[in-house]
Amino acid sequence: MDVISVIRTKRDRGELSPEQIDWVIDAYTRGEVADEQMSALAMAILLNGMNRTEIARWTAAMIASGERMSFDTLTRPTADKHSTGGVGDKITLPLAPLVAACGAAVPQLSGRGLGHTGGTLDKLESIPGWRALLSNEEMLHVLDTTGAVICAAGDGLAPADKKLYALRDVTGTVEAIPLIASSIMSKKIAEGTGSLVLDVKVGTGAFMKNIEDARELASTMVALGTDSGVKTVALLTDMSTPLGLTAGNALEVRESIEVLAGGGPADVVELTLALAREMLAAAGIEGADPAKALADGSAMDVWRRMISAQGGDPDADLPIAREQHVVTAPASGVLTRLDAYDIGVAAWRLGAGRARKEDPVQAGAGVELHAKPGDPVTAGQPLLTLHTDTPEKFAYALQSLGSSYDIAPAGTEFTAPPIVRGRIA
Ligand code: URA
Repeated sequence: MDVISVIRTKRDRGELSPEQIDWVIDAYTRGEVADEQMSALAMAILLNGMNRTEIARWTAAMIASGERMSFDTLTRPTADKHSTGGVGDKITLPLAPLVAACGAAVPQLSGRGLGHTGGTLDKLESIPGWRALLSNEEMLHVLDTTGAVICAAGDGLAPADKKLYALRDVTGTVEAIPLIASSIMSKKIAEGTGSLVLDVKVGTGAFMKNIEDARELASTMVALGTDSGVKTVALLTDMSTPLGLTAGNALEVRESIEVLAGGGPADVVELTLALAREMLAAAGIEGADPAKALADGSAMDVWRRMISAQGGDPDADLPIAREQHVVTAPASGVLTRLDAYDIGVAAWRLGAGRARKEDPVQAGAGVELHAKPGDPVTAGQPLLTLHTDTPEKFAYALQSLGSSYDIAPAGTEFTAPPIVRGRIA
């Protein structure tokens, strides 16, 4: 088998054989296939797609590249959720302790920022002392003792995806349904969760820009999960505007803590509760009330225990960027659009994301929103605050915000799209 013939097969719109798929994933994991060769293949897959048989085999090969874990020793049922990635998508942070407070064991093997979307691990690393890297034993211990754990997938779990995920981030090959579906599902199936709720984002700030693609991605993943014995449900959720009022690592942690304290933006609370209810139902837990667990502090208690168990100080001050720049509203009226993609790119350019896979991220960098679509605004009022440690990046970030919002005359009727736009089971 040689890699050039595999690349040519997909470049020429052919179907990859099971042997080709098994070989190329294994050879890439071992370093025999180089990054530039895998980039070419990923680009050919992005342009020419894979059918369901190829995707299932690609996913199986990624699972087989590493170990399979088991949560059989836990007494509680496991419930996991995974988002396809969005802007301001901090939902895992309040959701994992919330669902644990309601009786499930919540293992969240999370990722870093990908493209213009933020990563849960990058966000949590803004908490002083918090460690994303745990051994399998440590992970199980945190999960068993606190009910929830959010950590990096260990080196042994789907190592092929680890390499490919970082490569796709810097080669413009993220937005491919077969690659996203296999990336997410290989990790989830290898992890061994009993049930899984997928949050498939749709809109400008998501990798899936329209509802048809989001449906296709969701049904591909639900089929992969179900065929592997994992109870899998997907919600299609809106990502036309950022979730909540922040995009950026420490900024999002702060907002998540507000939600755990019983406050926070309405859209973040609504989506957190919708996903929590799905996770509890998928795990077979009846009678728990997630809204009550947010209001009575029990979710916050799990958060504090979970952060401490991973070396973090839940009471420490979160980093604040050294410099701020305020963007004001040029006119009075009603904000009718605030584009998630543009805000995500601005946050990334300010330092919240990375351009090369080895780059560090700035904990304090990002964008704060002072209004959401549907809100009235007055000319001259702050619309956005940009945060960075590297103020030379303001101009570059502002370029992405030039046409990121619309303000309609006062009194214009405006109805925001619902947060949950569909469900696939
Ligand atoms: N999340 C993943 O784990 N993989 C992707 O490809 C996209 C989002």
